[in-house]
Amino acid sequence: MRTLDASTPSPTALLSAAARAAHPLADQPPHLLNDTDAQALCSLFEPSPLSYQLGAAQHPIMAAARISTVARSAFAGRLIGDSGLGQLLVMGAGLDTSVSTGFGGRVLAVDRPDVLGWRAELVAEAGIEDASIPVAADLTEPGLVDALGAAGLDATAPTAVVALGLSMYLTAADNRAWLTALSCLPPGSMVVFDALLPDVDADEAGRGYAAAITANAGGREPWHWRPSADEVDMTLKASGWGSVAITAESDAVPAAFWQANPGLVRQRLVQLIHAQVLPPTTL
Ligand SMILES: C[S@@+](CC[C@H](N)C(=O)[O-])C[C@H]1O[C@@H](n2cnc3c(N)ncnc32)[C@H](O)[C@@H]1O
Repeated sequence: MRTLDASTPSPTALLSAAARAAHPLADQPPHLLNDTDAQALCSLFEPSPLSYQLGAAQHPIMAAARISTVARSAFAGRLIGDSGLGQLLVMGAGLDTSVSTGFGGRVLAVDRPDVLGWRAELVAEAGIEDASIPVAADLTEPGLVDALGAAGLDATAPTAVVALGLSMYLTAADNRAWLTALSCLPPGSMVVFDALLPDVDADEAGRGYAAAITANAGGREPWHWRPSADEVDMTLKASGWGSVAITAESDAVPAAFWQANPGLVRQRLVQLIHAQVLPPTTL
């Protein structure tokens, strides 16, 4: 049995998996997703991070973390499905298989080398089918494009890039760097990611949530970037992306889910972002 301790390569990746695992057990339907892989991964740990989630499922911080985690995955899953794109690049993949399950084309999973090694061990132990190609890259360092090329990224194929629960752990400059590198993908490629509003743009519930997470988990994996919607837009455009659409998390979650779960708070903190590589303009 494994434990969540100081040697865990990414506690936030495990807690994200636990949130996805807990959602169908803790929340009333209609569910946003049903991540049985995450449940299998949690069962490798003692105590199980899933039991921890379920033990305090309605605590406001726990519930908000869970809803954010499943809302971003469901949002990305919908856009990936609608796009019809044939190559998927999952940035900061952690232990997530939810966005790639059932994807028909090539999937590349980027994360730090230690996290990818841990992911491979856990996936094998849990008997999960994971066809993603690991791409070891620390996004605070140069070398992403070379690593993707070496791993077999088809640079001529329009690609869906998904980066969930990642942008806050990188600086503005590091986020600009990976966005700029990937904007060289062919027109039709898209990126989906989430970003946290700064306190000044969040509501009281969002500010309280951010303060609680920072106090509890800020040491190992601290937050570095909480851009306003304008900053997200400018960052994407300066990095070569266009057609930027920003959706508030609460609007991305179907009304029927909120109605079935009246105890959950629709906090204003998380922005769900979608942008595309546009064709070159012709004069
Ligand atoms: C909150 S977890 C999210 C994992 C996954 N995307 C999910 O939604 O379950 C953040 C992930 O970002 C990865 N990450 C953070 N900093 C990174 C960096 N500098 N380079 C590559 N990956 C990084 C972590 O290793 C971790 O897997």
